[in-house]
Amino acid sequence: MDTPHDSRHHALHDARTGTCGDAYAALVQEHRVHRSLYTDRAIFEAEMNTVFGQTWTFLAHESEIPNPNDYVRKRLGLRPIVVTRAADGTLHAVLNRCTHRGATVCRHDSGNARRFTCPYHNWTFANTGELVGVPIVAGYGPGFDKGELGLGKLRVETYRGFVFGTFNQALPDLKTHLGQAAAHLDQWLDRWPGAKLVVRHGATKLRCNGNWKLVYDNSADGYHPGFSHLSLLRMRKDRYGGGVDMQWVSGDVDAGLQTVTDLGNGNTFLDQRAEITAYWPQAAPMPGENAYESTLRARLGDAGADAALDMVMGSGMNLNIFPNLLIIGNQLQVIEPFDVDHSELSWYATSLEADDLPPEITALRMRLQEDFPAFGEPDDLANFEACQEGLRIAEMEWVHTGRHLDTGREGMTPEGLPTSVVSSELPIRAFWKQWKTLMNGQPARIGAAPAGLCAGDDA
Ligand code: FES
Ligand SMILES: [Fe+2]
Repeated sequence: MDTPHDSRHHALHDARTGTCGDAYAALVQEHRVHRSLYTDRAIFEAEMNTVFGQTWTFLAHESEIPNPNDYVRKRLGLRPIVVTRAADGTLHAVLNRCTHRGATVCRHDSGNARRFTCPYHNWTFANTGELVGVPIVAGYGPGFDKGELGLGKLRVETYRGFVFGTFNQALPDLKTHLGQAAAHLDQWLDRWPGAKLVVRHGATKLRCNGNWKLVYDNSADGYHPGFSHLSLLRMRKDRYGGGVDMQWVSGDVDAGLQTVTDLGNGNTFLDQRAEITAYWPQAAPMPGENAYESTLRARLGDAGADAALDMVMGSGMNLNIFPNLLIIGNQLQVIEPFDVDHSELSWYATSLEADDLPPEITALRMRLQEDFPAFGEPDDLANFEACQEGLRIAEMEWVHTGRHLDTGREGMTPEGLPTSVVSSELPIRAFWKQWKTLMNGQPARIGAAPAGLCAGDDA
């Protein structure tokens, strides 16, 4: 059998030459994965095309571009893109790359524009991608076809406001692809029936010198919070007493009621809801809450105010949609890879908007959503960077992912999905399974038909 070192080179060779088979079998094992998956730039470059772009990947939320001709600049892996809403309301995602000599055509984070004019030589593109203007066009002869020089376009679909894109024309539709994750997204969105989710402008952006997969590894890691976030938990307990949000992550968490589930296609779920008996009373206190609460009680009565206030605290759900969208509490976290050891995390606050949900709820949600990225995320980032540093040691090859693999604590949900106690590394194993399936396929190209997954791959 190959040594892992040899296999890595075979894997890279196979990834480059398109050989089918499980090129990553030696590197992604059930109970461990090889360190090179986090440190090897060639693997990183391969996954920027075969993971990001081949599967449905979260791009933006519709509420970021609510009006005709709104746009927002995003990234798909390393590709700069622009997500637009055309004049007719339809959604599009175009590659932010001029077809003349390659410059980005959109240089603002967001705005409203029917057209993008590349500042280099002023080629102009419609917000749906078509090339509509070329200065001094007499400089081009009969072989010049504007119709062939539109911006690159992604296949785009939305699920309840969440906009996803891919180059892969052969993928099933988004709803099918999301599978059980769609049902969980429904539960998350329908906490207040009829409410509309609004992703607030701006984001808390954190950069970290770590591989992007370290973030996904952490997204349903119910083992770490009681240790990584100890200072935050101690502070909360000292100040607010027992029972407040997050305190169920301390001690032997596997004796508690939280679970993790493999939703398929690399999507995973960490469910804390069974630990939450009363949402508002268990919310961590926040500045100004007494004034808001008494205003609401006076206006809505106790029962009405209790129901509305429950929308303030985090949902108790961590829903992770492969490969880059993490729905945590009331927030969206988007993972953006920049290099093999450099990632950015954007935390977006959300509000729920409905005629029967008072604006004070939005104000309180904003205060509560200041809490975790500020007090908790630095703990995680410090660990991601520490992992990246440790993983550079060539002599120590393996990352252990086998927690609760063989303890008999794994079962099935009523829907037939693998589930386990909360400290299980089942979600990490689910991630790697999907990663390997994609990496063993061929990158999809713009407009190309099927991204050729090898026969027998566990799609
Ligand atoms: S590079 Fe865009 S117009 Fe020349
Ligand atoms: Fe954490």
